[in-house]
Amino acid sequence: MLKPAIAIVGCGRMGLIRAQALKCVSHRVRYVFDVDSNRASQVAGIHNSRAVASLAEMNWSELDAVFVCTPPNDRAAVEIAIGLDKHVFIEKPIHLSARHSLSLLGMTLPRNRIFAVGYMNRYRSSIEDVRNRIESMPILGFQAHWICKPYMVPWWADPSKSGGPLNEQATHMVDLIRYLLGEVYQVTAIQGMSGPGTVSIMLRMQSGCIGTFVYSCSATEKDIGLRLFTQHTPIVLSGWDFYLSDAPWQTSPIQGQSSEDVFLSETKSFLDAVESGDAQAVRSPFADAFKTQVVVDCIRNSLRLGTHVTVEAYREELDAL
Ligand SMILES: NC(=O)c1ccc[n+]([C@@H]2O[C@H](COP(=O)([O-])OP(=O)(O)OC[C@H]3O[C@@H](n4cnc5c(N)ncnc54)[C@H](O)[C@@H]3O)[C@@H](O)[C@H]2O)c1
Repeated sequence: MLKPAIAIVGCGRMGLIRAQALKCVSHRVRYVFDVDSNRASQVAGIHNSRAVASLAEMNWSELDAVFVCTPPNDRAAVEIAIGLDKHVFIEKPIHLSARHSLSLLGMTLPRNRIFAVGYMNRYRSSIEDVRNRIESMPILGFQAHWICKPYMVPWWADPSKSGGPLNEQATHMVDLIRYLLGEVYQVTAIQGMSGPGTVSIMLRMQSGCIGTFVYSCSATEKDIGLRLFTQHTPIVLSGWDFYLSDAPWQTSPIQGQSSEDVFLSETKSFLDAVESGDAQAVRSPFADAFKTQVVVDCIRNSLRLGTHVTVEAYREELDAL
């Protein structure tokens, strides 16, 4: 089979990362588009792609798939791609909210097309390892944290473009909690003294498991971690790479873990799915990422209302898929 013909829309940090990953697996990018033509030219240079001045200038009939790497509020390329029956890879989060995400699809999820969302932590080998370990192990509870600084891109501080820090950053941990521990039933969120930049969230899972998640973008350094409490020693995942260790008193990670290019694994899985037509390779399909978006919406609602919010309140949206 011919290699799929690909376009990249949005040529900032993630557009560049996707272009480099595609180069690694010898997939050429046919078109690139960014509202900033300098950025488009830089990414075009990697693949000798054609940098176009608008989405309309791409010859969509030549394309099989598009990587959409624009800020969360700007997903126009997704709507066009779905309308033209193309495969789509979109960076996380899907959009500003669950309601916005549904509007992308016109309420119809293309079932014969691959639609992947960039929750890349699902492709880490440590995460796969933990999923296997806990498959038949009761988890008593969990403690998660994602402490970082604001993301220094022009659109990030504007909630009408990013959806706010919970939507753009905390969503990673919400997705990972769901991926490892199943569906969320209820959330209760409170904010810290310093304002909405620091939030503590209590989660009750449908399984009955309970846990907490502290998120902050008010730090100067990154500190990320997830600890699962079992009847024996805890399972500890630490840092941006989610290195796995068995217990907090173990200072070094379990042997044999090396740093991995998780964006490359994720990009390759999407391409495999497009080439084979088998969506199994995609660990974060639209419908699943949509559930993460719903939980993030519940957290923001809980903060606004000052009370707990159940995911069931979004039944209509969930059923729309
Ligand atoms: N998985 C991760 O770890 C991770 C990390 C960073 C960002 N992201 C996500 O990736 C997406 C992009 O973030 P980024 O860090 O690459 O941002 P960025 O600011 O570096 O790049 C975004 C690019 O999109 C361009 N753009 C804006 N509107 C456009 C439009 N209408 N059409 C074409 N181009 C447009 C901008 O000019 C810019 O070059 C966001 O959804 C973000 O949440 C994911």
